[in-house]
Amino acid sequence: MALLSGRRMIVVGGSTGIGRGVADAWAAAGARVVVCSRSRPADAPHLEWAPVDLTDPDGARERLAGLAADRVDAACFSAVHYGDRRATFSEVSEAEWRRQLDVNATGLWLTLRALLPPLRDARPGLFVGVSSEVAFNGGPGRSGYAASKAAAKVLLESVAQEEDHVRVVQVLPAGMVDTPGIRRRRPAGFDYSSYATPESMARLAVELAVSAGAGHHGDSLVVDADGNWTSAHDRTPVSQSRVPT
Ligand SMILES: NC(=O)c1ccc[n+]([C@@H]2O[C@H](COP(=O)([O-])OP(=O)(O)OC[C@H]3O[C@@H](n4cnc5c(N)ncnc54)[C@H](OP(=O)(O)O)[C@@H]3O)[C@@H](O)[C@H]2O)c1
Repeated sequence: MALLSGRRMIVVGGSTGIGRGVADAWAAAGARVVVCSRSRPADAPHLEWAPVDLTDPDGARERLAGLAADRVDAACFSAVHYGDRRATFSEVSEAEWRRQLDVNATGLWLTLRALLPPLRDARPGLFVGVSSEVAFNGGPGRSGYAASKAAAKVLLESVAQEEDHVRVVQVLPAGMVDTPGIRRRRPAGFDYSSYATPESMARLAVELAVSAGAGHHGDSLVVDADGNWTSAHDRTPVSQSRVPT
């Protein structure tokens, strides 16, 4: 019997990158997985897809409410709007700032509002938020990304302290991860050999789903390229910031 057979999971931002790594891992372990994103996940007959654009709150609310009508055992939020490139505060438009907040923070809020009720029914359900070291460190050239990820981090920490029947766990890479979102911000020919892959999250994602996050509620787990993890409570995640060029 597969580890997660009979479970239904939702991954918001699961079409590419780290969210896709989580969706693939949960599906490989036997779960039924629904990905929410603007584009259909490529080469993914093992994943269901529900089109969601988090910058359209009415549409997103309606779609997520529809998904929440069925059982939900675990959910992951990995959607992100990074911005086109690292740019200093003065170079970033107000529209860009609002989009970062819309996707990274309000998108998470909408997802929690829709999915916490069915997750409570799972007793316990699991909510995994994909965080970033920048929520702990701030950094030059990424003020909007940092502020929106810090908002998401504290939102999840606060919700964790309110919930008795949903375990809330944040996961974040120890370094950079080679994803389409990151590749859009790098020059052609960039060397990704030091970057982790989204598959590095797979082992932890499955372990959390199997145990419904037991022992990790409210924690932020820092995952290295080999898939090993430590708590951010024990060691502050290392900054990946660099001065924009
Ligand atoms: N990669 C790294 O090095 C790294 C490091 C630290 C933390 N993280 C965190 O990891 C998470 C995932 O990042 P990633 O690098 O894997 O990014 P990615 O490859 O760009 O994936 C982002 C996901 O978000 C979805 N998305 C973007 N805008 C959306 C919108 N308006 N509505 C709905 N879905 C939307 C994308 O799907 P569509 O485009 O199909 O909508 C995609 O599924 C983020 O929370 C990020 O902060 C990443």
